[in-house]
Amino acid sequence: PVLMQLRRSLLGWYGSRGRDLPWRQTRDPYKIWVSEIALQQTQVKTVIPYYHRFLDRFPTIADLAAADLQDVLKAWQGLGYYARARNLHRAAQAIVRDFGGVFPREFDCAIQLPGIGRTTAGGILSAAFNAPVPILDGNVKRILARLTALEVPVKQAEKSLWALSDRLLDRRNPRDFNQALMDLGATVCTPKNPTCLLCPWSDRCQTRQYNLQSQIPMRETS
Ligand code: ADE
Repeated sequence: PVLMQLRRSLLGWYGSRGRDLPWRQTRDPYKIWVSEIALQQTQVKTVIPYYHRFLDRFPTIADLAAADLQDVLKAWQGLGYYARARNLHRAAQAIVRDFGGVFPREFDCAIQLPGIGRTTAGGILSAAFNAPVPILDGNVKRILARLTALEVPVKQAEKSLWALSDRLLDRRNPRDFNQALMDLGATVCTPKNPTCLLCPWSDRCQTRQYNLQSQIPMRETS
């Protein structure tokens, strides 16, 4: 019942405190994909206007695939990390070539596309198709490290953190569960001074119990 309580409290929190973001208004995997790529290294606030402009400019995967790379890079101008835009363009061409222009529903197909790793694939497939695929980005690693008072740097526990994200995932509502995790990490379980009083998991959080919020997740030692 612990897992069920964690799922229920997180989803309840998301219902009242979750953010209303443009890519949550759609089920179009293409739009969600563009948002996930932009959000990989850029803040939500910065991404929002680019998201709208990019999709106005390239409304479908076929439009993006047929565009000149220079025009794609131009639409990305200001977001930085231009490899992301090159990969979007290349992946759109691969989707047209291999999947008839339709974003693949299969995890094993999606992760083979340039720029789409395990967590990006999970973010896209859960949001677009409500597929039960876990995510583990930096925010989620921090949340799970704190929940369990992980005593090693997250890099040394990737495998068990993936397993925990998968075990926690609400199979009835993976879409909202994953979005809720992202919001919890962005707004409550922040790197510095997390607002534990607002956290739906505070009563289950091992880190809060021992007041170790400033020490977990542990820093990498080199
Ligand atoms: N960061 C990465 N993906 C995100 C999403 N779908 N919503 C908010 N922040 C995110």
